[in-house]
Amino acid sequence: MKAILFDQPGGPEVLYIGEATRPELQAQHVLVKVAATALNRADTLQRQGKYPAPPGESPILGLEMAGTVVALGEGVSRWKAGDRVCGLLGGGGYAEYALIHEGLALPIPADWTFEQAAAMPEVFLTAFQALVFLAKLQAGERLLIHAGASGVGTAAIQIAREMGAEVFVTASAAKHQICLDLGAKAAIDYKKQDFAEEILRLTDGEGVDVIMDFIAAPYFHQNVKSLRTDGRLILIALMGGAKVEEALNLSHFLRKRLSLIGTTLRARSLAYKIQLNQEFWAFAAKKFKENQLKPIIDSTFDWKDASQAHAYMESNRNQGKIVLQIRS
Ligand SMILES: NC(=O)c1ccc[n+]([C@@H]2O[C@H](COP(=O)([O-])OP(=O)(O)OC[C@H]3O[C@@H](n4cnc5c(N)ncnc54)[C@H](OP(=O)(O)O)[C@@H]3O)[C@@H](O)[C@H]2O)c1
Repeated sequence: MKAILFDQPGGPEVLYIGEATRPELQAQHVLVKVAATALNRADTLQRQGKYPAPPGESPILGLEMAGTVVALGEGVSRWKAGDRVCGLLGGGGYAEYALIHEGLALPIPADWTFEQAAAMPEVFLTAFQALVFLAKLQAGERLLIHAGASGVGTAAIQIAREMGAEVFVTASAAKHQICLDLGAKAAIDYKKQDFAEEILRLTDGEGVDVIMDFIAAPYFHQNVKSLRTDGRLILIALMGGAKVEEALNLSHFLRKRLSLIGTTLRARSLAYKIQLNQEFWAFAAKKFKENQLKPIIDSTFDWKDASQAHAYMESNRNQGKIVLQIRS
């Protein structure tokens, strides 16, 4: 089969379409003819040699896909050939064929394109995991989402809004409108404003209950300041760096009873991901059907232009997802 490959880690230009071995069918898995996949920051890190595929996963890039079931492994009961599915992968989405466990595949809503379906799994499941499984966000609570217009951010705003939380975001100024349109109450231009000061101003000095953070080290002290009593800081990425330079005063954690929870979805067990899939679908299926939740697509590239798509993501210009169409 054809797949997007790279021989040496490097910049976006190392990507090319080449020949790879088609995944072998396994029990409980379905083979999918992929129609579309979508970019994640993890793909750009893996391309740079900084985030290798976990053991047992395809070394081909691509953490999600949408397509048509073409073959069933032994014991598969939930799907038949011809079904349109999308889902989370440990790797292998940038290819003509991908293998997915039947418990990780989700049905594509009837009126969705493959591109819409490919833009959904990773960001919605990541956001749902962070907000529901880890933060245990409650209706009426306040939530701050950093990088609000990112793929994960645009999914998180919608999920939190549907859960009845009050959402604040940080984002570049040009990206505020999309966050507000999706349901954020206020957007903070982190380049011009101290977001902790703004959060305290917007919440009458109280702060937020939950923060979803992708930036990490440079935001750490401001995050602690922005949290109210019993606050939860969910750390999802390290885009700004991993080492907090300024000394940390742990008394804030004691006094405000704060929790810091880190997570990576890709490395979670199959059983965990299946449970996440099931609980997410119970929450989201009807909302997707009725358009209360929707995948946000910034742009769509032909997969022969994968290098341009990666460069575009790395220029931090996207609002929502960047999709690749897989053409045989
Ligand atoms: N832990 C997990 O399980 C998990 C799962 C999925 C994704 N992730 C991570 O979540 C993050 C977001 O992913 P995504 O695909 O949604 O990203 P994305 O759509 O590419 O958006 C990232 C945005 O973050 C902002 N940003 C980037 N670098 C920044 C920095 N140093 N300081 C401040 N803001 C910065 C930029 O928006 P502005 O212009 O608004 O600054 C950028 O457009 C990635 O790091 C990804 O690896 C983690």
